[in-house]
Amino acid sequence: MPNPMRFKLTVLPGDGVGPEVSREALRVLRALSNFSETEFVCEEKLIGGAAIRSQGTPLPESTLDACMNSDAVFLGAVGAPEYDHLPTQQKPEAGLLALRAALGGFANLRPAVSFPAIAACSPLQRSRVEGADILFVRELLGGLYFAEPRGFDHNGDSAFNTMRYSTEEIERVARVAFEQARARRKKVTSVDKANVLETSQLWRRTVTRIAKDYPDIKLDHMYVDACAMHLITNPTRFDVVLTENLFGDILSDEAAAITGSLGLLASATVGGEVDIYEPVHGSAPDIAGKGIANPLGAIASAAMLLRLSAGMDHEAADLEAAIRQVLDEGHCTADLAGPGKHVVSTSGMGDLVEQRFVGLLDRRFSYHAV
Ligand code: IPM
Ligand code: MN
Repeated sequence: MPNPMRFKLTVLPGDGVGPEVSREALRVLRALSNFSETEFVCEEKLIGGAAIRSQGTPLPESTLDACMNSDAVFLGAVGAPEYDHLPTQQKPEAGLLALRAALGGFANLRPAVSFPAIAACSPLQRSRVEGADILFVRELLGGLYFAEPRGFDHNGDSAFNTMRYSTEEIERVARVAFEQARARRKKVTSVDKANVLETSQLWRRTVTRIAKDYPDIKLDHMYVDACAMHLITNPTRFDVVLTENLFGDILSDEAAAITGSLGLLASATVGGEVDIYEPVHGSAPDIAGKGIANPLGAIASAAMLLRLSAGMDHEAADLEAAIRQVLDEGHCTADLAGPGKHVVSTSGMGDLVEQRFVGLLDRRFSYHAV
């Protein structure tokens, strides 16, 4: 018997619903170990408000060290209202932003897919959302989030941030978007505000130039305000949406309305030393600890991890199929409740997905055995 491969995963449950949903994502990864030679070795560390509470800083050194020395990072959520009054650099969110910068992942992939079983949960008409399958490629290390100068002046009477992009920062994330489009429907919509912002003019020029290396991909450009509208009125027109940091933050939450719940959205941050997987939904302090949070965004993030960091394409596809199967059977968490639905708790949902996942793995592995 060959030695099992060890996949070192640093888990940062974080704040609010982060720990609850992370638990469910990890249980499906553990379920895999009976079927594969890869063993997921998980180490939990503190980040965000949880780290401020016990260590006085949102990104302790031991957390960063563990992340740097792992094969991937899984993060639940950061954000805790009791620390809202702190200066920017001390807030829970600063821990996540510093981690992103340190690990270097500049491309944040956020799929937003409409599942037929829950299309009625979208506030948009079923006929509009059905078939929607969008991949946001959000630039994650530049723009207003990181560029200097930033701050307050005049005794706090004015405040400023800087939107800055270099050609290289745009090129590298654009390439990720074109590569992703190749494996999909071969269309990239680049979103900017080039009618007003110089950074967007550079963005548009650079993306247009990079597109020449991908003649098989169709590129179009759209202003961000128009994109916000088209996402709602005609979501099926999009395949890959490439955009800068803040626009991507906003548009990906908007896209949650297409799927039916923010709790469903997964993400992967790639391109750096160590990739980060995290659900898009955030800490949701209002529902934390109640066992009602939707763990599917976290579980779908684990599926992205299997595909992109562990090289386990089939297992990733099985996990995504398991999620679909559970939804098709009518099970859902409270955020997706409706007529004819069977509402389960956070762990109830994790349990169902694990069972279906194991069923699919069983079939796959017994098939290969004969
Ligand atoms: C996200 C979140 C973060 C962001 C916050 C928590 C810093 O909203 O991942 O979308 O703005 O990037
Ligand atoms: Mn966000």
